[in-house]
Amino acid sequence: MLVELKNVAKRYESPDDGPEMDVLKGVDLVVDSGQSLAIIGPSGSGKSTLLNIIGALDKADSGQVLLDGKDLSGLDEKALARIRNRQIGFIFQLHHLLPQLTVMENVLVPTLALHNADQSADLPAHAESLLRRVGLAEWMHYRPGQLSGGQRQRVAVVRALINQPRLLLADEPTGSLDQTSADNIADLLADLNRTDGLTLIVVTHSARLADKMNRTCHLTDGMLHEETET
Ligand SMILES: Nc1ncnc2c1ncn2[C@@H]1O[C@H](COP(=O)(O)OP(=O)(O)O)[C@@H](O)[C@H]1O
Ligand SMILES: [Mg+2]
Repeated sequence: MLVELKNVAKRYESPDDGPEMDVLKGVDLVVDSGQSLAIIGPSGSGKSTLLNIIGALDKADSGQVLLDGKDLSGLDEKALARIRNRQIGFIFQLHHLLPQLTVMENVLVPTLALHNADQSADLPAHAESLLRRVGLAEWMHYRPGQLSGGQRQRVAVVRALINQPRLLLADEPTGSLDQTSADNIADLLADLNRTDGLTLIVVTHSARLADKMNRTCHLTDGMLHEETET
């Protein structure tokens, strides 16, 4: 298995004197390499918290998070940063592209943190082939402000793929898009899973996107439940 969560719990302290909040109350999850999983649940149910814990952007209070059998809680920040940069691709609801950089430059940003040994590959050529795949090769010298919302999110997908991650995490990747652009991103994600065997975990409110994944889990009251076939 690629991802395994064992009894993961997370509590947030209240900012004022309000009650503490148990956002995750013992989440268990196994995701095998090559699977695609949709996580759905009400707003505020802890979906982003869960995804950030899987992606080593946040830490669980208790329980274990294993990536490829390695327990993330035993790693220091440097090791976690390395895993985030090399093994995991992230896509968020908003594209977070840098407006002053071109499409090509934005896509190459995650490669800047790689060590020199890895820079031998022809990264611009790799970036261009990925951009071609999503239909944006002709746009590589444009800036994000000159692109549509759907095109920008496709650039964000390419940026998430540039370091050839094993695991792609997406937090409401179609949440800000019109239906056509959303379908386009959903098809792209499904194709990356099916054709390239990329393991995918997607938080979404979109039934159309969730339907394209192998599995769906619901997060409610701090617990994750697998949706069974009906
Ligand atoms: N850093 C934080 N500090 C305190 N509370 C937080 C923090 N992050 C999230 N929360 C709270 O935890 C709950 C779950 O948040 P989140 O994981 O963003 O849910 P979702 O993505 O399902 O909407 C929400 O009530 C949110 O307000
Ligand atoms: Mg969220």
